[in-house]
Amino acid sequence: MKMAFLFYCFIILCCVDHRATLEDDQGVPLIAKYFNTKGRYEEVNPHLRRDALAVNRSVLQPPSPQCREIHLTAIVRHGTRYPTARNVKEMQQLHSVVLNNSTGESSRLREILSQWTMWYTEDMDGRLVQKGVEDLKHLAVRLSKLFPSLVSEEKLRGGLIRFMSSSKHRCVNSTLSFKEGLTEMWHTLMGFVPADVEFGHEVNDALMRFFDQCTRFVQEVDGNRSAVIEVQKFKQGPEIVRVREKIAERLGVPSSFITHDLAEAAFLLCSYEFAVKAVNSPWCQLFDEEDAKVMEYASDLREFWKRGYGHAINSRSSCILFHDLFRRLEKAASENKSRRQVSEAVTVQIGHADTLLPLLTLLGFFKDTAPLTSTNFASQTQRSFRTSHMMPYAANFLLVLYDCGEGGIRLQPLLNEKPLTFPGLTDQQASIPLYEDVRQHYRDLLNGCFCEMLRTHFENN
Ligand SMILES: *[C@@H]1O[C@H](CO)[C@@H](O)[C@H](O)[C@H]1NC(C)=O
Ligand SMILES: *[C@@H]1O[C@H](CO)[C@@H](O)[C@H](O)[C@H]1NC(C)=O
Ligand SMILES: *[C@@H]1O[C@H](CO)[C@@H](O)[C@H](O)[C@H]1NC(C)=O
Ligand SMILES: *[C@@H]1O[C@H](CO)[C@@H](O)[C@H](O)[C@H]1NC(C)=O
Ligand SMILES: *[C@@H]1O[C@H](CO)[C@@H](O)[C@H](O)[C@H]1NC(C)=O
Ligand SMILES: *[C@@H]1O[C@H](CO)[C@@H](O)[C@H](O)[C@H]1NC(C)=O
Repeated sequence: MKMAFLFYCFIILCCVDHRATLEDDQGVPLIAKYFNTKGRYEEVNPHLRRDALAVNRSVLQPPSPQCREIHLTAIVRHGTRYPTARNVKEMQQLHSVVLNNSTGESSRLREILSQWTMWYTEDMDGRLVQKGVEDLKHLAVRLSKLFPSLVSEEKLRGGLIRFMSSSKHRCVNSTLSFKEGLTEMWHTLMGFVPADVEFGHEVNDALMRFFDQCTRFVQEVDGNRSAVIEVQKFKQGPEIVRVREKIAERLGVPSSFITHDLAEAAFLLCSYEFAVKAVNSPWCQLFDEEDAKVMEYASDLREFWKRGYGHAINSRSSCILFHDLFRRLEKAASENKSRRQVSEAVTVQIGHADTLLPLLTLLGFFKDTAPLTSTNFASQTQRSFRTSHMMPYAANFLLVLYDCGEGGIRLQPLLNEKPLTFPGLTDQQASIPLYEDVRQHYRDLLNGCFCEMLRTHFENN
């Protein structure tokens, strides 16, 4: 009897302890902070888990009390989405390995996983999910709380808020969700639906999907396997091989069955089950924290060579968006200086991680001293180029233009509602630099940034 009781206690302690290593007290998998671009926005702003509409206005401390916000540009990534058709295929393959590639060795985890129902289908193809709708609605409300004089019903009614979207359905639906977030809020606050307000949006792939249109980028990097050779090398390197062996062990299948693609599919299943359905699925148990860091690095390596500092053309492909941004800032600053009303108070541009990463790179953010390579995983543990922090769903790059009277016109950048510092630009008097200094800092790009187009036969003729 006593023995049975002790045994019972042992089981409880052991299981509680085991659970504790897998998730925190809110049911969040401990590896959720390594999900790269498949991570939740809540992981980079944990206070939102308690209140999705909470804002911290103290992060927006203008250099002096007389500063007024005159313009906001928000470049936003779409919200939480389904996996793409290609990823769904890999997930299905992994699932069938679990179901019918046992070697007779028993694995408790494989048993659990064989009970799991594969519910992802190829036709989901990257569509926005309900959580993604919420991501954008909540962001809209928070931005209106952070910038009440700009993201306002009055400005909207006056046609001073402009929306732009990539043509992908997940982006268009994100744009609609953002707008719905605003209308619902104003409806609640004022008791009526703001009527007949100009509420259209423009679809613009030249700006929001420049990466498809920059010929040199497409040829030299996007369609060129040797441009991402470091990723291929890392996939065959000791760190990933060890992760694959550990997954195979946990599943009780021969390690040759777990290719890198299947390891990636398992990591994606864990991240999608969490982002889409908020469940800590058994797939997550295939990875301990060290494994997750390795998987995270493999993905960062890819982004680094395809969208980041790996090749100069990656960031140059975003020149068109860079110019669009500065043209608008320039216009707002000069309108205000000449005491005219700023004609575009807010611009909301909804695109992709692939839209934001090259632009942030062009501006010099998140640059480490050494490049990410297949052999420096260990020395890059403190890297700043970390997509898990930079690019969760609904990631947003905000540029706030202030008129500070005597203090001049100033520009503050924020990523995911947290202030950034323009690299190499430190204002002695204030944390927010003068707009003119920012312009000076980027003058070479302002004068000569473009995605060089290759001459075609037509042009030669
Ligand atoms: C708000 O931001 C400030 C400055 O970053 C920070 O010190 C403070 O802890 C934050 N408050 C909350 C509730 O997150
Ligand atoms: C493996 O399992 C899947 C899913 O049950 C099934 O569709 C497939 O036919 C099986 N494959 C083999 C080779 O047995
Ligand atoms: C996206 O928007 C379209 C058009 O409004 C709608 O038919 C579709 O159901 C939406 N999809 C999602 C996932 O919200
Ligand atoms: C592909 O990438 C490699 C490595 O960056 C480069 O040397 C080569 O010129 C690229 N090929 C093309 C067609 O641009
Ligand atoms: C899984 O088993 C099937 C036969 O049931 C086999 O055809 C397939 O190659 C195995 N998968 C792997 C990854 O070895
Ligand atoms: C522009 O600047 C003036 C003077 O600094 C300020 O009072 C005004 O609010 C600004 N105008 C707009 C439209 O924001």
